[in-house]
Amino acid sequence: MASFMADWVYTDTVKDHFMNPHNLWKEGEDFSPDGVGEVGSLACGDQMRVGIQVEDGRIKALRWLTYGCASAIASTSMMSEIAVGMTLEEAYHITPEMITKALGGLPEHKFHCSVLGDKALRAAIDDYFEKNGIENTLKNSTARIICECKGVTDQMIEELVKNDKVKNFDELQKETGCCTACGKCRSKIMDELNEFLHIYGK
Ligand code: FES
Repeated sequence: MASFMADWVYTDTVKDHFMNPHNLWKEGEDFSPDGVGEVGSLACGDQMRVGIQVEDGRIKALRWLTYGCASAIASTSMMSEIAVGMTLEEAYHITPEMITKALGGLPEHKFHCSVLGDKALRAAIDDYFEKNGIENTLKNSTARIICECKGVTDQMIEELVKNDKVKNFDELQKETGCCTACGKCRSKIMDELNEFLHIYGK
């Protein structure tokens, strides 16, 4: 056990959050969420659920549950620490980079595991707005443009994948017109598309 731990490539902070995850949604716990977000798929073992309680526009409490790997567990545990006490707007803008930095880094190939927690958190905030009939002004505030010529954002790609509208590059191009002008965005489009296909288990 000792040598296994010594060989581990994760930082002490990652190990700590993995071994003692904070704000875990324990079975049977009396926690009534005001909003719930779920992303990922059981098929690839990355499913993530986040529940939030909101008071005076701030996150009062947060619980999460995942079937993901060590990095997903540590990232979401850290995300939960960062998010509690924040306004909904601040919490909506938590990025994987912020989480990874607070963890003292993650192995390069594990970075994508840290995107699930903040995605599920945004979905929980969206759910809170919807349930309470509040206009969601945050929804498009985190979009990044991936194809500049055609104004295609990461959120547009995510919505299309999530709703089964596209399963490959050709379908995405037909739907959005991405990559039909200068063509410089092709590899970035492919990266985003593959990431969302993975996250949503398509
Ligand atoms: S940036 Fe996408 S076609 Fe030019």
